[in-house]
Amino acid sequence: MKIAFVGKGGSGKTTLSSLFIRHLATTGSPVVAVDADINQHLGPALGLDDETAAALPAMGARLPLIKDYLRGSNPRIASAETMIKTTPPGEGSRLLRVDESNPVYEACARPVELDGGTVRLMVTGPFTEADLGVACYHSKTGAVELCLNHLVDGPGEYVVVDMTAGSDSFASGMFTRFDMTFLVAEPTRKGVSVYRQYKEYARDFGIALKVVGNKVQGEDDLDFLRSEVGDDLLVTVGHSDWVRAMEKGRPPRFDLLETANATALATLRAAADATYGARDWERYTQQMVHFHLKNAQSWGNEKTGADLAAQIDPGFVLRESTPTAVASA
Ligand SMILES: Nc1ncnc2c1ncn2[C@@H]1O[C@H](COP(=O)(O)OP(=O)(O)O)[C@@H](O)[C@H]1O
Ligand SMILES: [Mg+2]
Repeated sequence: MKIAFVGKGGSGKTTLSSLFIRHLATTGSPVVAVDADINQHLGPALGLDDETAAALPAMGARLPLIKDYLRGSNPRIASAETMIKTTPPGEGSRLLRVDESNPVYEACARPVELDGGTVRLMVTGPFTEADLGVACYHSKTGAVELCLNHLVDGPGEYVVVDMTAGSDSFASGMFTRFDMTFLVAEPTRKGVSVYRQYKEYARDFGIALKVVGNKVQGEDDLDFLRSEVGDDLLVTVGHSDWVRAMEKGRPPRFDLLETANATALATLRAAADATYGARDWERYTQQMVHFHLKNAQSWGNEKTGADLAAQIDPGFVLRESTPTAVASA
């Protein structure tokens, strides 16, 4: 399962992603956590001290390695230089699995021990102005997008991305890479306006989008969200003293999280799990191709001096049974 948390800055994306990741860890599920938020704060939210968080390897700085590994022996992708963030896998490409070790995880992921289990954490690294542009060839989120496009994940395995819903994710198609997108919204007009915009994009691409109300206090907040968001409102989370204690650097045991909030996390998980059966790998692959062609035309061909449409392998469908290419020595 691939799950994104998106929303306005300050709405609680990082907080709720981290709680959700902690919840998954207690069930022993394999989890890859990815910090692709402008404010890189998922590590600390998962309990890493500042020094350890600052020392996490940045995916953005390891793009050449990621590209070279994923490209494998795919004859349609001549070099890492011509591989852009939307280049889809094809025959010969190497695919990633959630629960394995591979050179990409070795270079970019670090284990984080949580109550009940250990997860892998990957971070894009701090953003620059250029990263938020639509076309950026070296884009940090591009590293995440390449990994998502080459990832074969099964039910009960989770990739959780704490993500900025900027123009780049709409232009590159990154927002279509998830089985479930949780839009975190505070009960305010601003919180809800991000939902409206996201909903427009989501509708055109058949994206499963659910709203998670955060910092919701009382009936009035709930009524507001219900009237603005309707059936898309999945669950709400109130103020959490557990989160406050964690922010002070004194995280209580996770099983001491408020019962209502723990129940909300289980609801998120059930909603995400329920989408897996409906996953359409062919559509998933077609959407990769759609966005690759768009990006090739709008900037990629010019940037690389190659015809990037030729990278598409017409017979390839990313799916669970796709055999992982054997790594050559
Ligand atoms: N349910 C909550 N209870 C208590 N504090 C919260 C809650 N949700 C978010 N916060 C606090 O609000 C601030 C912003 O949250 P954060 O997750 O960093 O937002 P985002 O990642 O969307 O920018 C943080 O200080 C966080 O601890
Ligand atoms: Mg954040």
